[in-house]
Amino acid sequence: MKVSVKVPATSANIGPGFDCMGLALPLYNTVTIEETVLPGTGVEINVISESEAVSAMSIEHIPLDENSLAYKAVELLYNSIGQTPGELKITIKSQIPIARGLGSSSSVVVGSLIAANELLGRPADDAALLSIACELEGHPDNITPAITGGLVITSQEEDGSVVYRKLNWPEEWAITVCIPDFELSTDIARSVLPKEVPMKDAIFNTKRLGMFIQAVNTKDSELMRYALQDRLHQPYRIKLIQGLEDIINNLRHIENVLGCVISGAGSSILVISEKNNLDNIKSVVKETWENQNIKCIIKTMSIEQSGAKIVED
Ligand code: HSE
Repeated sequence: MKVSVKVPATSANIGPGFDCMGLALPLYNTVTIEETVLPGTGVEINVISESEAVSAMSIEHIPLDENSLAYKAVELLYNSIGQTPGELKITIKSQIPIARGLGSSSSVVVGSLIAANELLGRPADDAALLSIACELEGHPDNITPAITGGLVITSQEEDGSVVYRKLNWPEEWAITVCIPDFELSTDIARSVLPKEVPMKDAIFNTKRLGMFIQAVNTKDSELMRYALQDRLHQPYRIKLIQGLEDIINNLRHIENVLGCVISGAGSSILVISEKNNLDNIKSVVKETWENQNIKCIIKTMSIEQSGAKIVED
């Protein structure tokens, strides 16, 4: 039996929603798991690039054995019902660039879990899959939108359950995804964060997260411009993303820009704007990075409203 699952990329945080807000984007990884008949072959894992954004070099570093995230996800699900995986072939067709804050790991975890669940006759329901995926990957703000699609606010609670709600992104606003040619590992991006933050910075964010939700619900661009700021992670990470400070300064002159935020832990960034002047926004980001010898891919994207789904492959 063979099952393929197509999972969207995601962008977490989106300014003030550090570790609790995320959205799905129309770039996909497709995970196929096949039970093979030949005994003793163990697990075979292949990663195939389906996009210029996923370079052969970045794929080279992905483990292709029992240490891979895909296999760990499959093993966890089998073990949860007292089984061990047999001979499996796992293929990941990848459009989501690696280590750029676009949920590449989450997509692999989600795709592998859903495929394994299907192979096992669906022992886990949707809530259990969400909870297991968050537990394994550690970032509900990536995992939840990968499973549900859309823009979500989400939290994994101490008992493992995940609380989330979808929000409706206004049609009038554009999301321009800017992907530089350098990677940034989440571990490094988290290692620069302090263990504690000043109370005034926590308050700065709670005010803005509340305003973000109201701005989205009422399509209030002025309020969104106020809301799209952060003091919990961006100030600490900005130095890890070459050119970001200049990009933010250069975008200030474009009237319809509502904010520029780090996508997840970086290195990609999102420019959120009204839907005019998009070419201008793209050239400002491109030129700023190119002046620093950084190549990039820049695309305006709509939020992907569908989450992970089983597909024919
Ligand atoms: N919210 C997490 C972070 C996302 O910013 O570290 C990691 O993918």
